Amino acid sequence: MDVKTDVLVIGSGIAGLFAALRISEFAEVVLITKKEKNESNTNYAQGGIASVIDPNDTFEKHIEDTLIAGAGLCYRNTVEIIVKEGPQRIYDLMNLGTEFTKKNGKLDLAKEGGHSMPRIVHAKDLTGREVERALVQQVIENKNIRLIENTIAIDLITEHNMQQLKNSPLNNRNCWGAYALNCDTNEVLKISSKATVLATGGLGQVYLHTTNPKIASGDGYAMAYRAGAKIGNMEFVQFHPTSFYSPKRNNNSPAFLISEAVRGFGGILRTRDGEAFMPKYDSRKDLAPRDIVARAIDNELKKRGDEFVYLDITHRSKDEIVDHFPNIYQHCFENGIDISKEFIPVVPAAHYSCGGVVVDEFSRASLKGLYACGEVSMTGVHGANRLASNSLLEAVVFAHRAANNIKQFIKKDAAIITGIPDWDDSGTLSADERILITHSSKEVKQIMWDYVGIVRSNLRLERAERRIHNIFTETEDFYKRTKVFEDILELRNICACAHMIIKSAKGRKESRGLHYTLDYPAVSPTNKFGDSILQNLHP
Ligand code: FAD
Ligand code: SIN
Repeated sequence: MDVKTDVLVIGSGIAGLFAALRISEFAEVVLITKKEKNESNTNYAQGGIASVIDPNDTFEKHIEDTLIAGAGLCYRNTVEIIVKEGPQRIYDLMNLGTEFTKKNGKLDLAKEGGHSMPRIVHAKDLTGREVERALVQQVIENKNIRLIENTIAIDLITEHNMQQLKNSPLNNRNCWGAYALNCDTNEVLKISSKATVLATGGLGQVYLHTTNPKIASGDGYAMAYRAGAKIGNMEFVQFHPTSFYSPKRNNNSPAFLISEAVRGFGGILRTRDGEAFMPKYDSRKDLAPRDIVARAIDNELKKRGDEFVYLDITHRSKDEIVDHFPNIYQHCFENGIDISKEFIPVVPAAHYSCGGVVVDEFSRASLKGLYACGEVSMTGVHGANRLASNSLLEAVVFAHRAANNIKQFIKKDAAIITGIPDWDDSGTLSADERILITHSSKEVKQIMWDYVGIVRSNLRLERAERRIHNIFTETEDFYKRTKVFEDILELRNICACAHMIIKSAKGRKESRGLHYTLDYPAVSPTNKFGDSILQNLHP
């Protein structure tokens, strides 16, 4: 089926929804999302959105905190953009119906690791759900936005899909929309657009243990890579220090997050025999940036042979805990732990991708007409390690910027191209060997967790590269022979992301931020590695 629109937005998290709403003010939007409309990483966000709201806080302090966490790789100009435009976007979210927690009539500001001031705007400990609720409501009511659920983008449409344009130069290519599988009808849609916004979120599902829901299979990174767009800094995968440890957890479901705001509220990390270990690792103790805390936990676990460490918040009163963290309290309680009396067992889990589709300060990717915002993008804001609660902020600021730029772009430069071929699946068969997919998917996640996790080495990366290459080849072969379905699309994307993470990690012969390798334990003093940029030269 053919769908034509001014702007195609892929993804319904904070970035996609906010971009769609802004674009709907001047153009028609088709918004596709692969599951139900609110299923996204955004929906699970707990801590909140960092922004300079307190009169005692300053832009300079927030900029400095972000640059320090980013370990020398942040772009100062984009950091300044998110920090300075942040407060206005917070008020926009409120005007769109988001209800943040207030104290005495003012926004209540929490503290998190790496922040020198309390500046986290939040809705109790369910910030993402509240933002998602408000934005989805606005989108549903908007006549210029056509929302299509259960529809998974397969690949971007560029010159590489068109026989007569296939050999055009890579530095002058366009994006004209995407092919997408409607999982309700099993039909592949050809969606042509003047501009396309990738807002497909993260890739936590590449790893065995992750806080990310199933949708986070790295589809956007993989589609952009296959289409020849530039991808940067994929080695910087952030592991959140504290996900709830449960021996009963099924590895297919995400690990429940224990928000960093709990440490901001006084939570202390302890070994199983009660030692508060963070002072040994960093003068900021439990509120050091995430890379440092996750590595410290990993080290304690390996040294002691333990499966988890504890997070202790028992010194705060039950009333305070329940008031600030009702969702966390309830989850732990249902799992047999009253956190006002008992320590919480926690382990690190893959959480966030700092790298992504390289974009400029207007969210423009390296293909004309392609924009990326939110977690899938690399704006240069996070460098080698993201500061807590800067992700939702970056997503909303850059979604706004993408919309502003698209307004000019579709007026002057863009056109819907004709002659885009229909999806061709002639000669393919329906898959009857789904076990191959589930097995390969488990294998990739285990390999990435064991060899490309918090601590890496040349040997581990080489071993991972060889094994992922085999699974990648088998998966491509299976994909070419089969009618598309969700699991094969996701596995294909997970493999592509694993490949990019390993390739970038192998190239960085130093330890910086989230990339720590036993073979090069020091930061290169000259910063000679800069960003790791990948590009598929033969899309
Ligand atoms: P998402 O919110 O993940 O949305 C992506 C959308 O794209 C989804 O709708 C998905 O279904 C859709 N999609 C994906 N692939 C396809 C496809 N192929 N076709 C169609 N649709 C597709 N950050 C903070 O700043 N503060 C926090 O407190 C915070 N807490 C977090 C807690 C948890 C448990 C997690 C997992 C993350 C947290 N983060 C937090 C990170 C933050 O939530 C995410 O980085 C952010 O929500 C990403 O927003 P997004 O719009 O880019 O992507
Ligand atoms: C959290 O609440 O700890 C998550 C915050 C983030 O990922 O920025």
